[in-house]
Amino acid sequence: MPQVIFKYKDKETIIDEESNNLTILEIAHKNEIDIEGSCEGSLACSTCHIIVDKEWYNKLEEPSWDEEDMLDLAAGLTLTSRLGCQVVLTDKLDGLIVSLPFINNDVRLNKKKY
Ligand code: FES
Repeated sequence: MPQVIFKYKDKETIIDEESNNLTILEIAHKNEIDIEGSCEGSLACSTCHIIVDKEWYNKLEEPSWDEEDMLDLAAGLTLTSRLGCQVVLTDKLDGLIVSLPFINNDVRLNKKKY
């Protein structure tokens, strides 16, 4: 049962995910963590933008060209940014740490921050 740690809004949520092989976006939605994911994983938005902890970034599969193209549109892009719908949690990633960007391309979520 791999674990993922979400850091956002000055807090940390640790989730032990029973179903292996879910995406970070799916796990966030199951656990009511505010990641939009407007296109539901079809690589047509960047509202599932997450920032992967530096220690973990190179342990992930490489992003596809399509993911990189969508990341180019993400607000607050960092060197360890990924799309949450493209990162699958497996046992190999047990303990993965991700944070949510302070700002993203989702007006609804940005309004909640102010
Ligand atoms: Fe749209 Fe991930 S949910 S690209």
